[in-house]
Amino acid sequence: MRTVAIVNQKGGCGKTTTTVNLAGCLAAEGARVLVVDMDPQAHATLALGVDAERVDENLYDVLAEDDGVERFERILVRADENVEVAPSGIVLSALEQKLAGERSDARTQRLAAALARLDDRFDWALIDCPPNVGLLTFNALRAAREVIVPLETSFFAIHGVHKLLETITLLSERLGHDLVVRILPTLYDGRTRYARETLAEIRSTFGELCFDTVIRMNVKLREAARHGKPIVRFARSANGAIDYGALAVELAALAPDELRARPGAAAEREVVVQYRAEHANDVRIAGDFNDWIPDKGVRSLVQSEGPQRVWTKILHLSPGTYQYRYVVDGEWRQDPENPRSVDGPVGNKNSLLVVS
Ligand SMILES: Nc1ncnc2c1ncn2[C@@H]1O[C@H](COP(=O)(O)OP(=O)(O)OP(=O)(O)O)[C@@H](O)[C@H]1O
Ligand SMILES: [Mg+2]
Repeated sequence: MRTVAIVNQKGGCGKTTTTVNLAGCLAAEGARVLVVDMDPQAHATLALGVDAERVDENLYDVLAEDDGVERFERILVRADENVEVAPSGIVLSALEQKLAGERSDARTQRLAAALARLDDRFDWALIDCPPNVGLLTFNALRAAREVIVPLETSFFAIHGVHKLLETITLLSERLGHDLVVRILPTLYDGRTRYARETLAEIRSTFGELCFDTVIRMNVKLREAARHGKPIVRFARSANGAIDYGALAVELAALAPDELRARPGAAAEREVVVQYRAEHANDVRIAGDFNDWIPDKGVRSLVQSEGPQRVWTKILHLSPGTYQYRYVVDGEWRQDPENPRSVDGPVGNKNSLLVVS
């Protein structure tokens, strides 16, 4: 099971939206997903169609008592095909006080102990955190190996994030617990120059820490939450579904090495291609090697070279001939640096890659 905490002390930056919709997209690909709602506001619970006030027991019952971990499986509610939720409730805000007398080591590792029991039952556990860095968030960080920091594409949001990254680093050093942290630009409105500039600044500030995927502003995400469904189940062709689908693919491709090993992989070669542009925000690659789904199974890096940005795409391919195109800010293009191409089925040219 890969355990990912979705963390940012800033309110309203898209933590819950990311947790719920990433869960929906991973589940749509067949993964078994557990959503752990660590926010007393219970927004993730609600956005998955579960009424927090009507469940008998919630995470408080698991985390507040020594023997609570045994109740963990009992509190899970099935929200959708392949998605279960460990519900929250307002009572969770009393946890800090309840555990005040305990050693900090013991009270911050309760969620980790509970999740360890479900390791075989789920492929993913996504933990939605409250907008503060208190006991609940510490529990999430100790339980997780990976962290997603949703970052609203606005100038002021960048400032708070440095402090958060410092806190996470400090905590993981103190605990001797490695955390892989990645930043996810959210609430992006590409029509405004301000947002485009801020996104460029986020990328140049955080470099490889930043996902290639950007979550655009999309009102359907709000509607889906109101209907208690992840967006893939509500409006699967909306931008929100496309973006969270891309995030699911990118995250799955960034799996730690031991999770990626699979039969037949030995015959594959690592193939690296690059796309350079001055004015592009989002570059993905699609070809017959990934069923023409942009960036599916592809590891991406973005760097700056003077005024240009360079997208490096790392593919794992068996020997053979492949057709591909780039998707640059949503537009399909041939590889300008590759002279080899063939006619595609709809009249335009596909670039050609030969792996020997
Ligand atoms: N990409 C998006 N497009 C449009 N609306 C969005 C998007 N992401 C989030 N929202 C909306 O913005 C609001 C805040 O989002 P969300 O609840 O996910 O943030 P949060 O970080 O979990 O907030 P909190 O800190 O209060 O828990 C919600 O109303 C949500 O529906
Ligand atoms: Mg939230």
